[in-house]
Amino acid sequence: MENELDRDICIRRFIKSDMPAVLALVAQIGSSEDLTESAGEQFARELADPNHEGDRFIAALGDVVIGTMGCAPGAIPSKHVLWADWLIVDSEYRRYGVASLLYDEIEKFALEHKKAWLCLDIGNIDRERAAYRFHLRNGFQIVGQLPDYWGEFEHLNIMAKSLKSKD
Ligand SMILES: CC(C)(COP(=O)(O)OP(=O)(O)OC[C@H]1O[C@@H](n2cnc3c(N)ncnc32)[C@H](O)[C@@H]1OP(=O)(O)O)[C@@H](O)C(=O)NCCC(=O)NCCS
Repeated sequence: MENELDRDICIRRFIKSDMPAVLALVAQIGSSEDLTESAGEQFARELADPNHEGDRFIAALGDVVIGTMGCAPGAIPSKHVLWADWLIVDSEYRRYGVASLLYDEIEKFALEHKKAWLCLDIGNIDRERAAYRFHLRNGFQIVGQLPDYWGEFEHLNIMAKSLKSKD
């Protein structure tokens, strides 16, 4: 997507010193629980594991981290699949194509590693409209739903995108 920020945004790998900024983005996710602790533990584990099979990226505008997204084997690992996770763009910078740039990097990484599918889980698609619309626009479809997974009317939706035609 072309926009006035495009040429100034740098997408690069997440490094240890990005942790506070990335956790501040995690804190922007509207949730009744504190997600920063579990996110911080996951990101630290990934950085410490030389055999980690995923990757994590940040979008920076100068020195400021304005977005992040990662991918990992997830809770049901398969050599054909990566699960996208923790896609967050700073609320001040949404609708400038930042998530699209991060997503391009994740898809490139998945293709380089010969993955056939990118998957993700998304919660209440009525509430998380932006995330749902963003993923539909990027070729994901809902392939499964576990009703009331997180509580009444809080379904777990699995979205997936086939990468096979892009090899
Ligand atoms: C979802 C999110 C990452 C999108 O980031 P973004 O940088 O604003 O997305 P982009 O600018 O790359 O959007 C690309 C396209 O996705 C769709 N889209 C993005 N946000 C949308 C919204 N709020 N409503 C409808 N469509 C939207 C549009 O088609 C958009 O293209 P357009 O702007 O030309 O119409 C951002 O809203 C966010 O961080 N939300 C909170 C965290 C979250 O829900 N994460 C996902 C968890 S699964």
